[in-house]
Amino acid sequence: MLFPKVLYLKKPYTDVAWERPRAMRVVGMEGSYNVNRVKSGISGFDELIDGGFPQGTTVLVTGPTGSGKTTFGVQFVYKGVELYDEPGVIVTLEERAQDLRREMKAFGWDIERYEREGKLAIIDGVSAVVGLPSEERFVLEDNLNAEDFLRYIYRVVKAVRAQRLLIDSIPSIAFRLREEKRIRSVLLQLNTILLEMGVTAILTTEAPDPARGKISRYGMEEYIARGVILLDFMERDVELKRYLLIRKMRETRHQMKKFPFEITREGIIVYPSGEVY
Ligand SMILES: Nc1ncnc2c1ncn2[C@@H]1O[C@H](COP(=O)(O)OP(=O)(O)OP(=O)(O)O)[C@@H](O)[C@H]1O
Ligand SMILES: [Mg+2]
Repeated sequence: MLFPKVLYLKKPYTDVAWERPRAMRVVGMEGSYNVNRVKSGISGFDELIDGGFPQGTTVLVTGPTGSGKTTFGVQFVYKGVELYDEPGVIVTLEERAQDLRREMKAFGWDIERYEREGKLAIIDGVSAVVGLPSEERFVLEDNLNAEDFLRYIYRVVKAVRAQRLLIDSIPSIAFRLREEKRIRSVLLQLNTILLEMGVTAILTTEAPDPARGKISRYGMEEYIARGVILLDFMERDVELKRYLLIRKMRETRHQMKKFPFEITREGIIVYPSGEVY
């Protein structure tokens, strides 16, 4: 499939048919939910969350710098295409699309191939802001307001019929839109649009001090997301070990322990039977 280089965004959202997430079904008298599950593509992770993310949910992946947030999010979208034939969109607001592609090649992920096949799209939200020319097909212009920004993402999601979306990261949305003070209303808008799109989405944010409960940059991202995953480090024998904690996952029975994980040459691997002290 060929994409137009520029997506025109003059029409309101309402001219595009809304797709609602598939309805949930309540089974049995015990009130447990039978929700369609979306496989994460993260090795070892799905068994911690009842088989996968609830379809159409929004999950916040938070953690300090270098904890693996970008890798987690890209793996979710990339493996969605590779293993489950589910198209996806990556909105990169922290590094240029070309840098992301190169970094992800180290894990053996050939993003470009799926872009050519029209199954994966990267929206470059960096080049215009730093004043660099971009050869990308999907580019967010500088000086967009929140509405145009969200509308653009909506259009690209529809163009590739994406079922998975990564927005990396929330703090850079605020920075990019120069609307840090309005971040609350922008996030509420974003949340509504994500639900309308029906995609399963990962949003990333910074956790300034997880040990003291500060797990998000603005102290509110976790309330908007329906799931929260913390990626963090722990010191053991003068070495930093990675661990993952599921803080919340609506519609899901999930584990509440800290589980070790590694970033390997094939991406993130979680060890569900491992223990972290
Ligand atoms: N090819 C690789 N093989 C193994 N580990 C890697 C590889 N590439 C990156 N890593 C590890 O992953 C870390 C970076 O992960 P990632 O970029 O996903 O983190 P992040 O939480 O998004 O960081 P930031 O806050 O800087 O955006 C690196 O510091 C390194 O430890
Ligand atoms: Mg990152």
